[in-house]
Amino acid sequence: MTMTTKTVVAFDLYGTLLSTDSIAKQLEKHFDAAKAKSISTLWRRYQLEYTWRLNSMGCYEDFSSITRNSLLHALAEQGEELSDSEIAILMEAYDNLSIFPDVNLALSRIATDPTIQAVVFSNGSRTMVSNSVLCSRDLAPQANAFQDFITVDEVRQYKPSRTSYQHLAQKVGKQPSQMGEVWLISGNPFDIVGARSVGMHAIWIDRANRGWQDAAMPNLRPTAIVCSLGHIVEEINRHRKSSY
Ligand code: LAC
Repeated sequence: MTMTTKTVVAFDLYGTLLSTDSIAKQLEKHFDAAKAKSISTLWRRYQLEYTWRLNSMGCYEDFSSITRNSLLHALAEQGEELSDSEIAILMEAYDNLSIFPDVNLALSRIATDPTIQAVVFSNGSRTMVSNSVLCSRDLAPQANAFQDFITVDEVRQYKPSRTSYQHLAQKVGKQPSQMGEVWLISGNPFDIVGARSVGMHAIWIDRANRGWQDAAMPNLRPTAIVCSLGHIVEEINRHRKSSY
């Protein structure tokens, strides 16, 4: 099988391969468990909210600055403050997020699957994504599964802007008419809807078995929903067979 017949599978990073909830453990060095959990949830919420707000305003700050600024917002909202050095240590901890338990096995299978061309596709800047993958104790051993790290930093627009997904397609060598040849894998519903809106396939990882609830564009649903990353290849193959 040649490169051109491989199926492109683009993995979202934060919230899909790496658990942003795992940062709560670091926050527990400063706060009790309940407060650490609230701050970590708020941190992630503002991190994403800031990306959408900047997109709407036609502005751009890199994801690392957004991550730092959203932490400050989350702390302030909880009536807390940390020193610059404590913030720096938390930011470093962001380079060592834990992977979800289904990631290792799924990526080691994908690394040896000749039909798949896997890439990371993230909001993170190249440095941030490289650090998060290559410095992560858990994810670094699986890094050879990926042929590239593609980041929105190159187009300075966050997901779910159309430009961000068009950039992904262009980087993996697909024309605008070939969007359906790219599969996005994400645990973030907004990312799934964004990819579907440009005609890509998208598999939502519903690890909590919540069922699809996102109604931003009610007609746009994931191509498939799985509860574990281990099922994505069979879903892609099933879809390929049924479309022949
Ligand atoms: C990413 C976001 C969605 O990795 O966290 O692109």
